[in-house]
Amino acid sequence: MEKIRKNAFSQIADVKNLEEEELLRVSLLGRKGALTSILRSLKELPEAERKKVGEGANRLRQEIGAALDEKKRQVEEMAREGVLKKEWLDVTRPGVKQERGHLHPITKVLREAISIFSAMGFEVAEGPEVETEYYNFDALNIPANHPARDMWDTFWLRSNQKEIPNPKSQIPNSSGLLLRTHTSPVQIRYMEKHNPPIRIIAPGLTYRYEATDASHDFQFWQLEGLMVDKNVSIASFKAIIQEFFSKLFKSKIKIRLRPSYFPFVEPGFEVDLSCPYCKEKGCSICKKTGWLEIVGAGMVHPDVFKAAGYNPRNVQGFAFGFGFDRIVMMKYKIPDIRFLRSGDLRFLKQF
Ligand code: PHE
Repeated sequence: MEKIRKNAFSQIADVKNLEEEELLRVSLLGRKGALTSILRSLKELPEAERKKVGEGANRLRQEIGAALDEKKRQVEEMAREGVLKKEWLDVTRPGVKQERGHLHPITKVLREAISIFSAMGFEVAEGPEVETEYYNFDALNIPANHPARDMWDTFWLRSNQKEIPNPKSQIPNSSGLLLRTHTSPVQIRYMEKHNPPIRIIAPGLTYRYEATDASHDFQFWQLEGLMVDKNVSIASFKAIIQEFFSKLFKSKIKIRLRPSYFPFVEPGFEVDLSCPYCKEKGCSICKKTGWLEIVGAGMVHPDVFKAAGYNPRNVQGFAFGFGFDRIVMMKYKIPDIRFLRSGDLRFLKQF
């Protein structure tokens, strides 16, 4: 037993890591260890000796166990210290800069526009980008087969649905789906659900089936406006639109109305703004004319009120719509509309 003890302790002293400790514990105290075989053979000894040897062997077993525990604690601590020595942290070292995204230029200007309009009591209304033929055309006084439909190059959608029933539609076949060509259908959707007085803007994406170039995209933003009450007039429209663009361009804008045609307004007009960049002297942004032709507008057509369920004798109002991308392009001097949706970081990082 004395030999076992000496041998055990010298082996324990040599242990350098946890794996060695584990192996040694098995070989000293395990089923195949010398101590275990002594304890196992006790029954072969005479009575008097059995007790003595048994006690001694058990004591030794405990001693070795305790020595192993202590060794284990030591190697664990050494391991921890080793890690701390190897892995140190320089708290004075500058951090790695995280890349952060930011708002898209369209979103920035859109938020500005919304805040200017809400200060004048306008609410934001929304409608679906996949629209029915009824809301995009018929309800806006653009019947099927009417040449006015040619004003909008339309993406028609194939649909499994044969009929989208619309009780208000007087025109058969107005059941197709399309990508809305303008935000004007939101006028109808909103009036169907609300009574005057109404003051809304409806910003949103619109789609036209056309070839792209620096100033045309097949997908673009529009901002629609609608104000309806008992006596909303063209004068009200001029005031609102002048205030809006003056605030947006942070300079006093003049307004010019030219007669124009949109089936859903009567009278209809095209709105020109005095160029905020050259003060009407003529520059590259206004193509040397001093005026920017931006907005389509007019007094809401009685048939549109009827389609929305209003009595046109009791209400009047104006509607307008303009391409929002163009405004963003002017504000940031962006030369090509296609940059806006290109996803090119070299472009986006400039804002
Ligand atoms: N929806 C028209 C367009 O896309 C613009 C418009 C809106 C004109 C409202 C008049 C009134 O061309």
